[in-house]
Amino acid sequence: MAGIVVGLARGAARIRSPIMLGTRPMSTIKDPLVLFENRGEKKDVGLITLNRKKALNALCDDLMNELTLTIERAEADDQIGALVLTGSHKAFAAGADIKEMQNKQMAESFMHKFLSKWDKVSHCSKPIIAAVNGYALGGGCELAMMCDIIYAGDNAKFGQPEINIGTIPGAGGTQRLTKAIGKSRAMEMCLTGTPIDAHQAAAWGLVSKVVPAETTVDEAVKLAEKISSQSRLIVAMCKESVLCSFETPLTQGLRTEKRLFQITFGTKDQKEGMTAFVEKRAPKFSNS
Ligand code: CAA
Repeated sequence: MAGIVVGLARGAARIRSPIMLGTRPMSTIKDPLVLFENRGEKKDVGLITLNRKKALNALCDDLMNELTLTIERAEADDQIGALVLTGSHKAFAAGADIKEMQNKQMAESFMHKFLSKWDKVSHCSKPIIAAVNGYALGGGCELAMMCDIIYAGDNAKFGQPEINIGTIPGAGGTQRLTKAIGKSRAMEMCLTGTPIDAHQAAAWGLVSKVVPAETTVDEAVKLAEKISSQSRLIVAMCKESVLCSFETPLTQGLRTEKRLFQITFGTKDQKEGMTAFVEKRAPKFSNS
């Protein structure tokens, strides 16, 4: 795959003692489960691709560990203003790895806080757009919903089929899906396991745009470029404020929004943005 830099291998030369990524020593990874590539005219968009095609990007422990590290690196990289997370044409991700979970015991699952590390995507300080083609099922649907914006290819299918295998969604499905599409629809999806297609997902407000599947990544990258051209500082504040609406009651959310709004007046980018408007020119943001 020409031009693709493997996210985790990039720093490998700097590593003296092997750092373990789940069961895999990071410095010896030859078959990365997560790829990273700079995209966009200014190379300011980080494209993260799940790379476990044969298993339909089932989210095994190693993949999730690599994803977490890739996101941490992208967060620390000043060149990157926004991220796009995608899978393959057939599957964004077909869920948590059922073969890994099949014999998992309750005590181990509880004591080792199974799935608790999956939260990294939802805590990333930079905007993440999910570019979903094909199956986004179970943990795959949950992973997409952890992102800030979802673009869907016209072949996408979203679902929470855990009920069919004797469990329930464990990475936010019962919560984020309900907030996105409402109780009755979320109940129906979670209790029957029946998936919805991309157009239904758009009509119900789960995704913001449906595009031809061959263009999903390019469309998401274009959107990420647009976001990346804004002040990074103000983008981070805006993202934090929107996310607040998911985590707090309205009065607390409104207070946080107001505070962050007031704080923008202490930034150079607010002065530049408003001055540029008055002077009828494009703003030049300094991210400060
Ligand atoms: N875990 C592990 N392996 C998976 C997988 C999963 N979630 N989904 C697919 N695979 C594997 C299959 O076992 C198969 O591997 P082999 O070739 O070694 O047999 C390979 O990927 C291709 O899959 P299929 O042959 O099944 O492909 P298909 O086109 O016939 O069907 C599918 C596609 C409808 C997505 C089907 O694979 C499927 O139903 N997958 C499981 C979906 C699911 O139940 N997801 C929820 C998991 S639980 C969860 O995610 C919990 C949570 O909340 C975090």
